[in-house]
Amino acid sequence: MRLLIMGAPGAGKGTQAKLITEKYNIPHISSGDIFRQEIKDNTKDGQLANKYIIKGQLVPDDLTISVISKRLQKEDCNHGFLLDGFPRTIKQAHALDQLLAKLNLKLDLVINLNVSKDLIIKRLSGRRVCLKCGATYNLNTNPPKKEGICDRCGDTIILRDDDKEETVKMRLDVYENQTKPLIKYYSDQKILVHVDGNLNFRDTFKEVVKFIGDLDGKH
Ligand code: AP5
Ligand code: MG
Repeated sequence: MRLLIMGAPGAGKGTQAKLITEKYNIPHISSGDIFRQEIKDNTKDGQLANKYIIKGQLVPDDLTISVISKRLQKEDCNHGFLLDGFPRTIKQAHALDQLLAKLNLKLDLVINLNVSKDLIIKRLSGRRVCLKCGATYNLNTNPPKKEGICDRCGDTIILRDDDKEETVKMRLDVYENQTKPLIKYYSDQKILVHVDGNLNFRDTFKEVVKFIGDLDGKH
């Protein structure tokens, strides 16, 4: 199954993606996570991407498309994948369609998480991440057992650089102007479903699973 999860910054894409990929045993391909790893490894791509990410702007399409194209052609994607955070522009969506057509594949489902702006701002200011193992927490809804420490690996958890208030505002503007048009794009292809992401993460996941379950007959 080939899935895409969309939504504004902080909508809960990463949280739902982890649950989906565990349940359905498919790789989780997050463009944001890939860039953060490149930044951590201090690669050339990472240095370039970081210039945009810290300002809340999109990384240029050419670099993003090339990074994701390489990832999608790895063997673990042969039986499906979940994309999170890519595509984010119409140009990226066209590039994805072209790549999948070349591989004789297509997306089965696009899940759009709808969340109110107030909740997004609250979620992002409360988010803490572990840069070592990638675990995500929330001081309001999902705090770690020991303050400031990752439950999974014991490293320190931090506020993501781009979760500062001014940067979040920019990311939300960028989402409205450049990414939201993709809702119509996938709706026109008749593969888009809307899920209420304002609910707690377990109830949101139940909704997501219903839609994925509907695909079963088609496989
Ligand atoms: P990316 O990493 O993709 O960030 P984003 O889209 O801004 O989304 P987030 O990761 O911030 O939020 P999320 O929806 O995953 O929410 P999460 O589950 O963590 O991209 C970062 C940057 O990289 C971009 O700004 C751009 O510069 C660049 N980039 C990436 N992809 C690109 C592309 N394709 N093209 C160009 N540039 C690109 O949840 C948020 C918080 O809420 C957490 O604390 C979580 O615990 C909590 N939470 C989640 N769900 C719930 C719930 N249901 N109830 C209560 N709390 C919840
Ligand atoms: Mg994320």
